[in-house]
Order: sequence, then structure tokens, then C-alpha cells
Amino acid sequence: MAGGFVPAAREDELQPGQMKRVVTGGKQLLLCRAEDGWYCVDEMCSHEDYSLYFGCIKGRSIKCSLHGSYFDLATGKPLNEPADCPIRSYPVRVADGQVWVDPG
Ligand code: FES
Repeated sequence: MAGGFVPAAREDELQPGQMKRVVTGGKQLLLCRAEDGWYCVDEMCSHEDYSLYFGCIKGRSIKCSLHGSYFDLATGKPLNEPADCPIRSYPVRVADGQVWVDPG
């Protein structure tokens, strides 16, 4: 795959609602499989430095389990308080049974 994409998981590795920690390019990322597709975001919540891996995927958003903010997986925008800063969302591609992310 061209560009800065790196392999992150096999396509059959995660079911909808599951996520995987990915460390690449010096970044801690979360690869998320939502009902409508794959997303990749920063692992750490923007409110306090807490891992979103301990939260859960609901629809196309991820919930932080510490204070309950939801983030849109496609845009990284917080959907409710207390978080008011976005997390970063990264491009994801699926090809040949492999899921690729571009950590930018
Ligand atoms: S640490 Fe995530 S909402 Fe507070």
C-alpha cells in the first residue's frame, strides 16, 4: 500500500465493537471496528490522559470510561462534556484482508 500506510490488523481480527491498540510512528493509536466500518484515533482521551481502550464503541463513537465523554470516530470531535478538545482521527484502508492505518 502506498503512502504512509502501515499494517495494523488482519481484517478478520476484530468484530464490530472491538478495538486494538496500535503503536506506530511513535504514536499510541486505537484501531476501532464500528458497525459501519473501520476507524483509527488517538488512544488517549483529550480530557485527561486516560486510555480510550477502556471505553467502548457505540455506533460511530467511542466512549471514555473515566468521565463519559463520547468522541466521533470519524472526526475525533467530542460529542459531550467534559472533554472539549478533539482527538485525532487517522485514515484507514482495507485491502487484501489487511487493515492499514496512516499515522501521518
Ligand atoms: S478522561 Fe476522558 S472524559 Fe475525562
